[in-house]
Amino acid sequence: MKKFQPFIFCLLAAPLFTACSTSGQKEASEVITVQEEPFGEADGKKVTLFTISNQQGLSVKITNYGGIITSLIVPDKTGKPGDVVLGYDNLQGYLDKSPYFGSIIGRYGNRIAGGQFSLNDKTYVLAKNNNTNHLHGGVKGFDKVVWEAEVVREEKAVKLVLKYLSPDGEEGYPGNLQVEVTYIIDERNQVRIDYRATTDAPTIVNLTNHSYFNLIGDPAQTILDHELMIKSDYFLPVDSTLIPMGELMKVTGTPFDFSEFRRIGDSIDVEQTQILRGGGYDHCWVFTRSSNDPENLVSLFDPSSGRLMEVITTEPGMQFYTGNFLDGTITGKGGVAYKFRSALCLETQHYPDSPNQPDFPSVTLNPGEEYLSSTIYRFSIEP
Ligand code: BGC
Repeated sequence: MKKFQPFIFCLLAAPLFTACSTSGQKEASEVITVQEEPFGEADGKKVTLFTISNQQGLSVKITNYGGIITSLIVPDKTGKPGDVVLGYDNLQGYLDKSPYFGSIIGRYGNRIAGGQFSLNDKTYVLAKNNNTNHLHGGVKGFDKVVWEAEVVREEKAVKLVLKYLSPDGEEGYPGNLQVEVTYIIDERNQVRIDYRATTDAPTIVNLTNHSYFNLIGDPAQTILDHELMIKSDYFLPVDSTLIPMGELMKVTGTPFDFSEFRRIGDSIDVEQTQILRGGGYDHCWVFTRSSNDPENLVSLFDPSSGRLMEVITTEPGMQFYTGNFLDGTITGKGGVAYKFRSALCLETQHYPDSPNQPDFPSVTLNPGEEYLSSTIYRFSIEP
């Protein structure tokens, strides 16, 4: 194992990504369509479902309840559209029980050991909603609140801007946190998510999106035949409660080596302590690339449909989770029971338990600072 070596990441996301291209002479507001429909009510507030579609066959449905991507349609190699994310057909499904399908996760994506952390010599106690640990923002995280929503039409893109003011003390976190999450659709087949937050008191922030992908477009099948490449030499080994042990482990020669395209199912069931602990892959990979590098860091390919998804991010890590806790008891869209490993998550983020691990890149946000993060999920076809 290698001792962790801190490195600096540029959080100024916007300049990292090249400008969008337009199709033809028309403006995005003319070629990218947006539909809004009522999606029910939560916390006494009306919830809306937005459908944003471009001319290239990408169509995404997003609701302002939890900022959830409920559907993401992209064509396969024959041009046939398919929905590549898990979710429910209606709001009630999300209200009843959801393992964070498609949602925005906050204030802290992933686990915080023992459900507590200290900041400036004060200890903050959070909910222990995952055995002894805190997970994904607590009992009622950002995935379960109604966000203010606004559609912004720009020359080359349509944006869905979601805003939420997380009050001081919510779920035990300090500071009033003003959060803005923007979904951006242009004429490329990609979904870009920009995250922004400011606070009036020192706090911690680690936002991500929890979409469950199945690039076959058929969640009745597992993702074991998907091929994955992660440009990363290290992952974070975890203890039995999935908290990182503080060191980086080299992936070379282990089931965690995705530095070249590799079938996910190849080593997922090998007898290896780390694999068994996660029940499969449920670990954070570390990006050691230099700052300001806009290249894609992760590529996911499904040979049967020809769909390729690339992930480009400003974040220093990514939790790769293979749906090990899906067990067929949840029935999702179209009446399909979501079975073991029928989808996977690629959650770009800072490392789990960072508030308690001084050697990890900081997740502290102070008044006067701006939290900025950006991730693109880009789709294409490989013959
Ligand atoms: C975590 C898993 C967890 C899943 C759903 C993932 O981000 O790493 O351990 O089961 O979210 O809660």
